[in-house]
Amino acid sequence: MNIVILAAGQGKRMHSNLPKVLHPLAGKALVQHVIDTARSLDPQTLCLVYGHGGEVVRTRIDAPDLIWVLQDPQLGTGHAVMQALPHLKDAAITLVLYGDVPLIQAETLQRLVHEARDALAILTVELADPSGYGRIVRNAGGDVLRIVEQKDASAEERAIREVNTGIVALPTARLAEWLGRLSNDNAQQEYYLTDIVAMAVADGEPIRTAQPQGAWEMLGVNSKVQLAELERIQQRRTAERLMEQGVRLADPARIDVRGELVCGRDVFIDVNCVFEGRVVLEEAVEIGPACVLKNACIGAGSRLAAFSHIEDAIVGPDGVIGPFARLRPGTELAAGVHVGNFVELKNSKFAAKSKANHLAYVGDAIVGSRVNIGAGTITCNYDGANKYQTIIEDDAFIGSDTQLVAPVTVGRGATLGAGTTLTRDAPPDMLTVSRARQVSIPGWKRPQKTKK
Ligand code: UD1
Ligand code: CA
Repeated sequence: MNIVILAAGQGKRMHSNLPKVLHPLAGKALVQHVIDTARSLDPQTLCLVYGHGGEVVRTRIDAPDLIWVLQDPQLGTGHAVMQALPHLKDAAITLVLYGDVPLIQAETLQRLVHEARDALAILTVELADPSGYGRIVRNAGGDVLRIVEQKDASAEERAIREVNTGIVALPTARLAEWLGRLSNDNAQQEYYLTDIVAMAVADGEPIRTAQPQGAWEMLGVNSKVQLAELERIQQRRTAERLMEQGVRLADPARIDVRGELVCGRDVFIDVNCVFEGRVVLEEAVEIGPACVLKNACIGAGSRLAAFSHIEDAIVGPDGVIGPFARLRPGTELAAGVHVGNFVELKNSKFAAKSKANHLAYVGDAIVGSRVNIGAGTITCNYDGANKYQTIIEDDAFIGSDTQLVAPVTVGRGATLGAGTTLTRDAPPDMLTVSRARQVSIPGWKRPQKTKK
């Protein structure tokens, strides 16, 4: 099979500097959805017809196997396919897809391509409101006669609810022949791909049709309003798939998955969470409301309370995280770690059962087991030029409002008194304090306001 993806249109109605097909849907460029679906069909050739902003598209799309075909100027859908023709394998079937129709499903395309073995096959759909689309005109016997564009349709034809999705498949030799006969003798002076339908009829060729599972598959993106509509459709489908796998969602309309979310059994996700990149939630994980997770793995039985933000981090099993916790890249927590409100961790490893429950910054640190990090603790890991590591060994107790001026090590079982500014290593098992001794001055009087 050859696949040609048309993506040369400007997308004026997006009112954006970004080429239309690069706008994200569920965290992935529109055209990347189409490329991924196309690839799953294992085509021999995969062509992408680009135009406006094409160079930007080329740099942003990951597709080593893609044949890039420039269409300049853009003279219509038929003209676009013509540009790809020299790259297509003659003996194969060619399938035409659209870079701005991202929800089309592989299973639907397989059925269409099956119909195209020896015929022109058109993907059509019945719409309650067909306005704007080309209508499928059939004879009394049900055979397709032609496609009539909205502008050219009679009142009777406009009442037809079966429309052209634009997606077609056909033997490449026939495609080449018909494209060669296209003319631009129409109102827009464009070469319409749809005109091949009338040619097939004139040549006495059979025309077959296939329908998608759902009409939503053929929806295109021409505006930000439509982009948002498709986003909701895609998110709804993802939510349903998660629930079918056993995930409990507080509200399937209030979850956004912009990547891959893999869940174990009995996972619960509260409202308004956003998942980006690849996120794994192991068995019985509970995610509180309004959490953001990007490229993260949350171990079995862990609980994330509301408003936690986790990126490029690993939380071990039975963790208790948040509310308002921030785990930045390179955070790795072993089993049973507690990270409380307004705690920021970066590039730090915590061994089992350590806790930082309130208001702390721990960066570039290695923390042992059963360590308690008090409120207001800060690792001073950055001197303005370089970053240094802090090591806190097993069973250490870091008193509140402590600054650990890295590089520095707190020995096993050491205790740091509250308010300590640690600039040298703290020996194991001892109390280290660095604050001035407390004094009380008897007879001291508060200053009085002088009388004028
Ligand atoms: C087309 C169909 C119409 C169908 C509708 C479905 C034609 C003549 N009409 O109309 O029957 O109901 O799609 O959405 O085909 N493109 C190029 N190069 C060009 C022109 C277009 O690459 O020179 C690409 C666009 O980027 C877009 C797609 O082809 O992805 C469709 O083009 P568009 O102009 O939107 O066609 P419609 O008028 O919507
Ligand atoms: Ca369109």
